[in-house]
Amino acid sequence: MQEWDEGFRQITSKIFDELEVKVPGFETFKHKTGMLISSPGAQVYYHADVPGQSLWQVKGHKDVYIYENSDPFLSGEQLEGIFLGTTEEEIRFEPWYDEFATKVTLSPGEMAHWPLNNPHRVENHDEVNISVTTEHFTKEIRDFYAIVYANGLLRAAGISGSRHSLGAMKYAKMALAAAHKMIYKKMVRSGATAKSPRSFKLDMAAPDFMSDL
Ligand SMILES: [Fe+2]
Repeated sequence: MQEWDEGFRQITSKIFDELEVKVPGFETFKHKTGMLISSPGAQVYYHADVPGQSLWQVKGHKDVYIYENSDPFLSGEQLEGIFLGTTEEEIRFEPWYDEFATKVTLSPGEMAHWPLNNPHRVENHDEVNISVTTEHFTKEIRDFYAIVYANGLLRAAGISGSRHSLGAMKYAKMALAAAHKMIYKKMVRSGATAKSPRSFKLDMAAPDFMSDL
């Protein structure tokens, strides 16, 4: 949205400018703002995301369930899969996880922010919902991304890594991740991989207004 609309470009930079003033040492880049318009009762299944993020409620109400970013809610291997793009963002969910979740009900004008990579799921109340998402990176998030990404590559090659790599090993891993990303980007451009392909189209004649492709 921030690239497409001048108002959203301004509001995006204002949000991060204000946060950076209020949180000393918080320096962000690669901002991304999106809008979600969703149906009464719609839900977003259990998943985890790569960037830092916040959810801003504009219209309607929704319950946000937030879980810890460690075993059993999110294993190291699952996190690596998400970062590498080899697994869908959706991950295994067990109903008993809810006992350990932080549940937040968002009303218009409220926002939620949670620790990096914490799995979450969302349930709309029985009304149309409009929400805005903001995503950001910091130097720490970018470095962590590179380390987890490299660990994922090493695991695939049969070598286990540490989530909290330090010193020279950290930079070796970042270089490895950067090299691999370049190769991967070329693969995506050439159509060698497809993530979440579209499986339906809108169809006014179909009973649910959707038909399979
Ligand atoms: Fe998410």
